[in-house]
Amino acid sequence: MSFTPRVFSGIQPSGDLHLGNYLGAMRRFVPLQDSHDCLYCVVDMHAITVWQTPEDLRRTTLELTASYLAAGIDPKKSILFNQSQVHQHAELAWVFNCVARIGWMTRMTQFKDKAGKNSENVSLGLLAYPSLMAADILLYKATHVPVGDDQKQHLELTRDIAQKFNNDFADSIASNGFDKEYFPVTEPLIAGPATRVMSLRDGSKKMSKSDPSDQSRIVLTDDADTIAKKIKKAKSDAEPLPTELDGLKGRPEADNLVGIYAALSGKSKQDVLDAFGGQGFGAFKPALAELAVTELAPMADEIRRYLADPTEIEAVLRDGAERASVIAAETMGQVRDIIGFVR
Ligand code: AMP
Ligand code: TRP
Repeated sequence: MSFTPRVFSGIQPSGDLHLGNYLGAMRRFVPLQDSHDCLYCVVDMHAITVWQTPEDLRRTTLELTASYLAAGIDPKKSILFNQSQVHQHAELAWVFNCVARIGWMTRMTQFKDKAGKNSENVSLGLLAYPSLMAADILLYKATHVPVGDDQKQHLELTRDIAQKFNNDFADSIASNGFDKEYFPVTEPLIAGPATRVMSLRDGSKKMSKSDPSDQSRIVLTDDADTIAKKIKKAKSDAEPLPTELDGLKGRPEADNLVGIYAALSGKSKQDVLDAFGGQGFGAFKPALAELAVTELAPMADEIRRYLADPTEIEAVLRDGAERASVIAAETMGQVRDIIGFVR
């Protein structure tokens, strides 16, 4: 059976949104609004898999919503909402906890990274995180999920959960009159020059919210001066930029800065090398800083404007939750019948 193309993606309100989140995910969400039905989510229930101070969670939820709006998510075209306001996410996640196997979860590299040597002492939610993520996506029978490269393994698990559910309940799915591919096997959309933006201090580490150094990332609320300074101080090397992509191999910092330029300008990395190949960082960094300020600083102003009076953002979230709930309730009702829960 063919599913109506539908896009779902989520971002955690667990700190400041950075350039990696923006280029790897959020910026790519915007054009999809013109070709697909889209749902974009503030995944606050994922955020609490690690400790969040309640007042910080409230603040970062509003900040992330403001960032979605400032980046160009249009709440009339897309459904923009907050995960915890649509209770079916938790409900379907529980069902998936009973479909997925513990071994699938302990294999996840993100779990292993976040749990470290402490895996007996992290929350149970951190282990079950991918089950909730599968619920986010499959509640809406989403067919396409734009994310950064680090989410690839979680999306493979989402596909495994969909397939196992479709198999385990095949008879009941048929007797309830549904098509045998009840849940779609979702396609990840991981593309473009910035699917993995690296730290500005160390080209071998991913740019992340949890890096202790502020200088390692540009955050969307940075002002023009801060953005320019962080780029000018970014780690680079002494060689001029190459003219061909091959020349970026073994030069992680150069590769990262070229990727950032490409993503911010909507060009390919080769286009950037065509323009800057042969020039050193003395010339390239100021050009990159100027581009980053032009692209990012107006968003920071817009975010501040939204946050000055959060009533508008809160109304957007409530309206989004209402619209998401209509779809979520329909799926969850069907799932209850398929499983054999008495209504
Ligand atoms: P998170 O902040 O973990 O909720 O991530 C939100 C989105 O940003 C996901 O689609 C991630 O894959 C993406 N993302 C996070 N860090 C990076 C990065 N350094 N480069 C590219 N994409 C990223
Ligand atoms: N796990 C994702 C991340 O950390 C966030 C997320 C939660 C998500 N649910 C999702 C992304 C559903 C895409 C689709 O980046």
